[in-house]
Amino acid sequence: MTTSPAVSAAPAAVIADAAAYAEAVATASRAAAAYYATGESALDDDAYDRLARGIAAWEAAHPEEVAADSPTGKVAGGAAVGDVPHTVPMLSLDNVFSAEQLTAWTASLERRIGRTVAAWSVEPKLDGLAVAARYEDGRLTRLITRGDGTAGEDVSHAVGTVIGLPDALAEPVTLEIRGEVLMTQEQFEQANAARTAHGAAPFANPRNGAAGTLRARDRAYRVEMTFFGYGALALPGTAPGLAARLAELPHSAVMAEVVRLGVHTAATTEVAPRVVAAAEDVPARIEEIAAARPGLPFGIDGIVVKADPAADRAEAGSGSRAPRWAVAYKLPAVEKVTTLLGVEWNVGRTGVIAPRAVLEPVEIDGSTVTYATLHNPADITRRDLRIGDRVMVHKSGDIIPRVEAPVAHLRTGAERAVEFPSVCPQCGSGIDTSEQRWRCERGRDCRVVASVSYAAGRDQLDIEGLGTTRVVQLVDAGLVSDLADLFLLTREQLLTLDRMGGTSTDNLLAAIEGAKGRPLSRVFCALGVRGTGRSMSRRIARHFADMEHIRAADAEALQGVEGIGAEKARTVVAELAGLAPLIDRLVAAGVNMTEPGATPPAPPAADGTGGTDGGGPGEEAREPAAAGPLAGAAVVVTGAMTGALEKLSRNQMNELVERAGGRSSSSVSKRTTLLVAGEGAGSKREKAAQLGIRIVTPDEFAATVADFLPPAS
Ligand code: IVH
Repeated sequence: MTTSPAVSAAPAAVIADAAAYAEAVATASRAAAAYYATGESALDDDAYDRLARGIAAWEAAHPEEVAADSPTGKVAGGAAVGDVPHTVPMLSLDNVFSAEQLTAWTASLERRIGRTVAAWSVEPKLDGLAVAARYEDGRLTRLITRGDGTAGEDVSHAVGTVIGLPDALAEPVTLEIRGEVLMTQEQFEQANAARTAHGAAPFANPRNGAAGTLRARDRAYRVEMTFFGYGALALPGTAPGLAARLAELPHSAVMAEVVRLGVHTAATTEVAPRVVAAAEDVPARIEEIAAARPGLPFGIDGIVVKADPAADRAEAGSGSRAPRWAVAYKLPAVEKVTTLLGVEWNVGRTGVIAPRAVLEPVEIDGSTVTYATLHNPADITRRDLRIGDRVMVHKSGDIIPRVEAPVAHLRTGAERAVEFPSVCPQCGSGIDTSEQRWRCERGRDCRVVASVSYAAGRDQLDIEGLGTTRVVQLVDAGLVSDLADLFLLTREQLLTLDRMGGTSTDNLLAAIEGAKGRPLSRVFCALGVRGTGRSMSRRIARHFADMEHIRAADAEALQGVEGIGAEKARTVVAELAGLAPLIDRLVAAGVNMTEPGATPPAPPAADGTGGTDGGGPGEEAREPAAAGPLAGAAVVVTGAMTGALEKLSRNQMNELVERAGGRSSSSVSKRTTLLVAGEGAGSKREKAAQLGIRIVTPDEFAATVADFLPPAS
């Protein structure tokens, strides 16, 4: 079986005696009630889970002492109420936490029904609230929460705010569609902006937002949520033919009907429900969904695995809490509550003053989180964050942790407002607050040392002997106030500096002279244009071939470069305008501004239909096909390079790949066509081998690209 993502249940809370048990039951019941009523609970999901499992363990050992109000075995932890009866109970799901538990579960289901399940539906477990939407003759008549599973609350007032649940279906049918109401990340941000603007406390996370909003009436502002259908069933008024189809079709076919009727489901997302033929195939799809999780615009907290054929589901039946034909494969929690200890203000290379949250360290999804991004000062105000707040922190996969919101109902009154800087924390100059992102008035000059050191770095101009200490010395001596000044330094000036003898001076001057001849891609990267790093700089340089063409490009022309969208294009144009005097001085100093081997793009034809290279209308933005031995190849380099490639840094290897017409990437995927595997190559080699990707040694690769190797230095 394929390995599944490492998921394990956190250890259960330890309950020592009857008193601790009573207290645990009270805490869990309170939390469950709050969670289902308003979405506000003092416990995050993990903490509730641990407590519930501790309670279950104690009850297993003391069956005669189980409290009547224990949350175990009850839908929604026994919380919540409502007076609209469900025609069929709205159940919960049993959980598994590992591939082994999943295998045990599928095997036990197949044993119970006495045959192999011929198809499994593998779906995202959407992290919101279950609702039942009743349609009569195609009209949405009622929206009901899950409540205690037997009866729920009528929340029909929320109908107009739930995207994905149409007022009218594509056909005048009567049925109930069940699914999850949630807030996408964007809806959550909008909801909190609206709430804080109206003086209301922000929601701690999207799930709480959906819970609070679904029940709210008469709000002065409107916030939206999204519905994702995951099931459908007949109501008393359903036509017999449709009722039969709903009962007899495979689950996946029922869901196709739901989509056809115009209801939103996860089918259009990256984690669309998929049917696999055998239990052995389920983990691979689980892995795909788990891997996609960090990039999804909405939250999922697991994967639901369902027996697809109707007969299998009917035969398996349901227990009082959960069906036996479905199970939830839980993914690790990506949100935890911790304390906001402070806010740090850091000045970036371009002078942007960015706040960063300092947190009481908290372990989320296998790593300890101490800092989280806060985008800008307005973000802090919009979220109403205060120092000392308990905050909901989100971290998933490789994405940078973010503070979702304060958990406002846990405030004690001792929290303090976040202090915003009144002068640049780096250099003490004034702050330009005219945009959402604050910047030091001196812009990139504020960070002369940082930006000159960056420009001199190995992957940019590669000026040997010009480390940060030397740059500080040059700046302090008043010899350098920007990158272009480097190229005006004289022997006499350098000799006045401490620890600069004749030899070091000559070496440094020679290194600076050498830097003038670097390819445009490196020079461009050295400018530190916001939104462009090494690989983007290479793409821009190769696309435009020289600085003149880059500077002449408007936002539209820049979008011809792969990976540049409208927003980035606008940023680059604005940045280049700001950098114009510096670029002029670099040109005057004799710094190379062309990319070897690249040809400038054809100018657009006067009728605006594209260039002169035969590209038809609409094709003007397309990259010309690259030439060279690696044309069309997607190349990943891993392990230590040897032979002719031994001295090349990873960045230089990527440059080489791209000079030879290929595309470089750092990770192996289905799109990779060639892996250069040096000594000590590990998981990337294994993955490439599994995917059947061609693997070559550094020597073989060097022979292929021999004509493109940099001259030996
Ligand atoms: S099927 C009989 N499918 O998870 C229960 N539930 O923890 C059938 N949920 O109450 C539920 N995504 O609110 C199902 N794709 C999905 C789901 C899903 C989220 C929720 C649902 C359920 C809860 C159980």
